[in-house]
Amino acid sequence: MQVIKTIEEMQKFSKAKKAEGKTIGFVPTMGFLHAGHLSLVKKAKQECDMIVVSIFVNPTQFAPNEDFESYPRDFEKDSERCRKEGVDVIFYPSAEEIYKGKTKFVEVGEIGQVLCGKSRPAHFRGVATVVTKLFKAVIPDSAYFGLKDFQQFVIIKKMTKNMNFDINIIGCPIIREKDGLAMSSRNAYLSKQERNEAVVLNKSLALAEEMFSKGEKDAETVRQAVSDKISETSGKIDYVEIFDSASLKPVNKIKKRNRIGLAVFFGKTRLIDNRGFE
Ligand code: PAF
Repeated sequence: MQVIKTIEEMQKFSKAKKAEGKTIGFVPTMGFLHAGHLSLVKKAKQECDMIVVSIFVNPTQFAPNEDFESYPRDFEKDSERCRKEGVDVIFYPSAEEIYKGKTKFVEVGEIGQVLCGKSRPAHFRGVATVVTKLFKAVIPDSAYFGLKDFQQFVIIKKMTKNMNFDINIIGCPIIREKDGLAMSSRNAYLSKQERNEAVVLNKSLALAEEMFSKGEKDAETVRQAVSDKISETSGKIDYVEIFDSASLKPVNKIKKRNRIGLAVFFGKTRLIDNRGFE
């Protein structure tokens, strides 16, 4: 397994492999890898010849009051995990390397201002910008994203099409702990009590699904029931919304394939989760 730190070297590697007829699967991450990330690597390995994982905590997707500095980092452990999974390259650039020269941002428009974008207005611009830069460096055939960040997945899929990148964007299922909490690097911030309480997120999404399957179609009624359940804990709701899976716009009457998404603070830790109605 190689660790590559410069864009030039990364491009050289990818171009050489492509010239040999090999396909490149790419898993962009901010490191502190868990089973969710590894599931993306496993999927990429089923579909591609060479696997590149990037580890880069991207400063432009954090607001000044957010957790950029404290975001968990453990490169040694991450490399060990990647080696075990059979990753070919870790792309591990510095912020200077990624943001050298004048940065032009990739704007994502209205779709970046709903759901998580309401409380993190510059977040998706930062994500779209760094993913564009990573795509230019890695030149993948396919890129793999977890559906826990559902809004991110929709925005990147759109951005890839709008920017004419010839890259398949693959969404992979949310990986959960045994008790149902969606895996996230940020779970490491939770105290024992917060960790125990956080299972309410998956439970409340299951309640929404159950109400829908029993015939409740009114989005506000379901939204309120989910909010009430979360409010039985110390969790502070950022949002609970039911929305169209493509436009991310809120719906009044729930239909199959609509989604419910939420963001909730436990202490200072903001957790997100979502589920499709089936
Ligand atoms: O999902 C993440 O870990 C990040 O948002 C990503 C896609 C690696 C961009 O920094």
